[in-house]
Amino acid sequence: MKNMRPTLSSPLLSRLSEFVATQTGLDYPQERWDDLERGIAAAAPDFNFSETEPCAHWLLSAPLTRQMNETLASHLSVGETYFFREKQSLEIFGEQVISQLLQSRRQNERRFRIWSAGCSTGEEAYTIAILLDRLIPDLQEWNITILATDFNPKFLRKAAQGVYGEWSFRDAPVWLREGYFTKCSDGRFEIHPRIRKMVTFSYLNFAEDVYPSLSNNTSAMDVIFCRNVLMYFTAQRAKQVTGNFYRALVDGGWLIVSPAEASHSLLSPFTPVDFPGAVLYRKMENAESKLRISDDQVMQSPKETEASPLSLPAVQVKPAATEITTAQAGQLLAQQPDEREVPSSMARNCANQGRLSEALEWCKKAITADKMNPLHHYLSATILHEQGQHEIAIQSLRRALYLDPDFVLAHFALGNLHQSQGRYREAKRHFGNVLLLLRKHPQDEILPDAEGLTAGRLVEIASSLLASLPQSATANA
Ligand SMILES: C[S@@+](CC[C@H](N)C(=O)[O-])C[C@H]1O[C@@H](n2cnc3c(N)ncnc32)[C@H](O)[C@@H]1O
Repeated sequence: MKNMRPTLSSPLLSRLSEFVATQTGLDYPQERWDDLERGIAAAAPDFNFSETEPCAHWLLSAPLTRQMNETLASHLSVGETYFFREKQSLEIFGEQVISQLLQSRRQNERRFRIWSAGCSTGEEAYTIAILLDRLIPDLQEWNITILATDFNPKFLRKAAQGVYGEWSFRDAPVWLREGYFTKCSDGRFEIHPRIRKMVTFSYLNFAEDVYPSLSNNTSAMDVIFCRNVLMYFTAQRAKQVTGNFYRALVDGGWLIVSPAEASHSLLSPFTPVDFPGAVLYRKMENAESKLRISDDQVMQSPKETEASPLSLPAVQVKPAATEITTAQAGQLLAQQPDEREVPSSMARNCANQGRLSEALEWCKKAITADKMNPLHHYLSATILHEQGQHEIAIQSLRRALYLDPDFVLAHFALGNLHQSQGRYREAKRHFGNVLLLLRKHPQDEILPDAEGLTAGRLVEIASSLLASLPQSATANA
């Protein structure tokens, strides 16, 4: 397949490349036309064509549904990945970013959030989990989220299984297989359940989905890894995606791209921070985080790094001051015609900025003021989920569903929670309920309180999540 002879004409490939850029954001300049043709050939059977050329003409002539677009994109996107890829940025991540987070958060909420965006079959996300396992002696006392997303359900399924062949270890340190994998009877290697549980895999399409959003857990990130993804996008799409990442990060948060993707103009809202061997990108919004840049310069001192990567000078990342919260409350009160809405708006604001304890306090106020409102219980559940309080989050969602059994987002959140806990039958049931309930809704209806998410899109996401559940759950449940 790799060396197939081109059969499509140059004018046809040129039109296809333009079409694919518009439809999926993926960039296929002339030097990659053979990849483009290979992708169309691989997608053809999914569109019921046995030959590539008629499929190419059909694609150009028919308006594609979103699902067709994604099928096409999943054949055109490259899933190449392996453990401990691009070691320099991983070292900086461990020695600088994580060490700083550990010091600044140790005294307050012991939590942070990392997103492997475009995770493919999971090697990057598990590498992050393994690094944390090695770097943090009291890991059990921390609430660490590692969200890993992709838009290819086949990749996600493989990622959740966590079973890999030799090729995934091609640049891995020698201790990796020994320490973190068990050899299977077929010669492949299965990741230890303890590490698998640290990662939540989820479906997300950068081109179509709403993010950052509380509803898909993509807000208030401390670190986003998006490596070897942007390079396949057109400049326009890449700019849009990095803009969304900027908003998905907390102030002071980091974006880690591949060295080949490090472009200051593409990543212009971010502040580039030079480390030996790699550039990381940081969101620096207010004076407080600007001050912290001098700490980064301290961190770059090779002497300090060599001496003790985990005992750098304390960098205080104070949670945003409570006065701001009070001021915001005043502002909201002035804007909100209904003052009963203020606590829940405040809860959302705080949650979006990663101030979860405050957010939860506002949720409690909202519930006290209006116990029968299912939204407050749902909001409370999304925050509890982020805090790692899964069982209490489930109870809150059950309360929300008791008050409104047709509350689609609550079913969806329960599906996600059960999935993250490995309870696939329950996950299947709730994703099924989402599909059932949404049958009554027009595709383009924007769902209430879903930050712009449409009914049609949620159907697609829930279907993809159902497809990514292990086969056993879907077969016998
Ligand atoms: C080359 S892999 C990179 C994997 C990993 N980040 C690494 O560096 O090893 C690129 C991944 O991006 C995913 N991807 C491409 N376009 C996407 C989109 N629009 N939404 C979500 N994922 C996308 C692909 O499915 C693929 O798994």
